[in-house]
Amino acid sequence: AVEKTLSIIKPDAVAKNAIGEINARFEKAGLQIVGMKMIKLDDEKAGGFYAEHKERPFYPALVEFMTSGPVVVQVLKGENAIAANRELMGATNPKEAAAGTIRADFAESIDANAVHGSDSPASAEREVAYFFSEEELCER
Ligand code: CMP
Repeated sequence: AVEKTLSIIKPDAVAKNAIGEINARFEKAGLQIVGMKMIKLDDEKAGGFYAEHKERPFYPALVEFMTSGPVVVQVLKGENAIAANRELMGATNPKEAAAGTIRADFAESIDANAVHGSDSPASAEREVAYFFSEEELCER
């Protein structure tokens, strides 16, 4: 089925000037970018996004990292977009990410891991709506 998924190009990848290369991978894989903005997250916006991780030991570092510099939030659309994006990203820990994936090529650590992607249809729906209104999506 055609799906939409939320992608975040994280502060480490933005700082590396890798926005274009990462977007090229999405487009070459057949995913359309139907929404995109560069923003700086504050503690409240980042903390709310990652609320499901609130009790995890890495949560404070995660919020600190995600507010350390600008991010690009984007909506990717295509056939099986959620799984397709997760394949392009590779494993959460770049040390375990398959060769040729975004995290293998651009990420330094499990904290600074270059990209985020929704992990299920339910989280994709929540995460897209967390950053984008209907009017901000340019579907075609
Ligand atoms: P992301 O897909 O954005 O979702 C939560 C983030 O927490 C994850 O990517 C990692 O960057 C970060 N993180 C840090 N430590 C861990 C961990 N042990 N397990 C999962 N995610 C972690």
